[in-house]
Amino acid sequence: MAKKLFIQTYGCQMNVYDSARMADVLAPHGFTLAPTVGDADMVILNTCHIREKASEKVYSELGRLRMLREERKTAGRDLVIAVGGCVAQAEGEEMTRRAPFLDIVFGPQTYHRLPELVSSALHARARGSSGAGLVLTEFPAEAKFDSLPEATTASGPSAFLSVQEGCDKFCTFCVVPYTRGAEYSRPVSAILEEARGLVARGAIEITLLGQNVNAFHGEGADGRAWPLGRLVRALADIDGVRRIRYTTSHPRDMDDDLIAAHGEVPALMPYLHLPVQSGSDAVLHAMNRRYTATDYLAVIGKLRRARPDIALASDFIVGFPGETDRDFEATLALARAAGFAQAYAFKYSARPGTPAAALADAIPEDVKSERLSALQDALAELSLAFNRASVGRTLPVLLDKRGRRPGQLGGRSPYMQAVHVSAPPGSAPSGAETPVRITNAFAHSVEGVVAAEVAA
Ligand code: SAH
Ligand code: SF4
Ligand code: F3S
Repeated sequence: MAKKLFIQTYGCQMNVYDSARMADVLAPHGFTLAPTVGDADMVILNTCHIREKASEKVYSELGRLRMLREERKTAGRDLVIAVGGCVAQAEGEEMTRRAPFLDIVFGPQTYHRLPELVSSALHARARGSSGAGLVLTEFPAEAKFDSLPEATTASGPSAFLSVQEGCDKFCTFCVVPYTRGAEYSRPVSAILEEARGLVARGAIEITLLGQNVNAFHGEGADGRAWPLGRLVRALADIDGVRRIRYTTSHPRDMDDDLIAAHGEVPALMPYLHLPVQSGSDAVLHAMNRRYTATDYLAVIGKLRRARPDIALASDFIVGFPGETDRDFEATLALARAAGFAQAYAFKYSARPGTPAAALADAIPEDVKSERLSALQDALAELSLAFNRASVGRTLPVLLDKRGRRPGQLGGRSPYMQAVHVSAPPGSAPSGAETPVRITNAFAHSVEGVVAAEVAA
């Protein structure tokens, strides 16, 4: 019987990739994707545990789903409610206690087993259970990748491809090593095969994903561990792959070959998201990042020598326990010295089970807020300066969505800038790289016109 599935995705690109693969896993069992929860027979919340706000959102959404299920009873319709992703992994059984109406709780490494879970949940519900309460949170990632079906869910011209999962870095603030497990790299042959499939279904841009993607060391056909630079070069050889990106990288794993690839592989886009977190050596040490501010600046110096126009992006955490005004000043100084084209700043959020959660010297909320807005102002100035420097240039933009305003199309420049393009009314996103002359710059986007129109 045909059934409708709605997946709500929170968190990082890895979860976006995983949601598409969950749809692939359930498709042979009669599930097609529904555009809204209202049309769905089953809903999956694919969750994120990275900060407190992210994980609390899940419970309010679950409350709404429970009401929806109640409302449907009179119409004789049911709703299977499942929670996947990183909150599911972190809380496991605890979730079914807090939300006893839940049918399925499954971790990020178990979703290849969704068909059996769903079938058990459907049986339990048919017997009148108010919540099947099935919990599956085992590791490792390897079993999942070995048994996933071919990726078939449409991804459009810009596609994600997970190549590496989990993390062994254990930064003291971070839940990822606990929610995603130990680091695992997929074999090169499986990645290249998936990439060819993506291209055959219309992708021209592939973004390689991993929580620590540049720690990639998947087994190649020669039986040796391939570093990420070598994988990038092999992907660039696939006909039809025009753009390659990878995210997220750790500064310690930027090896020389990967840096060189930025200068040598034309398909490798001139953009890198390289989270620094703090500009203070004391805070970096307490975070267990295992580099200093100087080390970080040296890595980006090498990147700029390899690819002078590279756009650098980053993440920052403000208000880590014990962070002083001087530490914070060092963060501002590093942001300016690095000249980030784009960066995200977050208030430190203590996560249960992480080493930093046990640290004394928590920073008061109002100080965190002040630092966050000071840093965000500095970062906005930097990104505005970067965007202004592209005004007047013609850049190839992958137009893959409708723009902010009617008559606009949207896409990304090679530098990952969000580009809004004026287009004749009724134009559809082409899904192709289109030359766009940049006419206007803002802190978080640029505007432009299709270059052929300018010339006309
Ligand atoms: N693997 C990446 C980051 C993954 S999490 C890396 O090594 O940098 C994405 C971002 O969330 C991080 O870069 C960090 O800035 C932020 N983050 C992670 N844990 C956090 C926490 N406990 N509080 C606030 N921000 C956090
Ligand atoms: Fe988390 Fe990234 Fe550190 Fe791994 S390297 S523990 S994912 S912040
Ligand atoms: Fe969130 Fe898990 Fe990604 S915690 S950021 S969804 S790896």
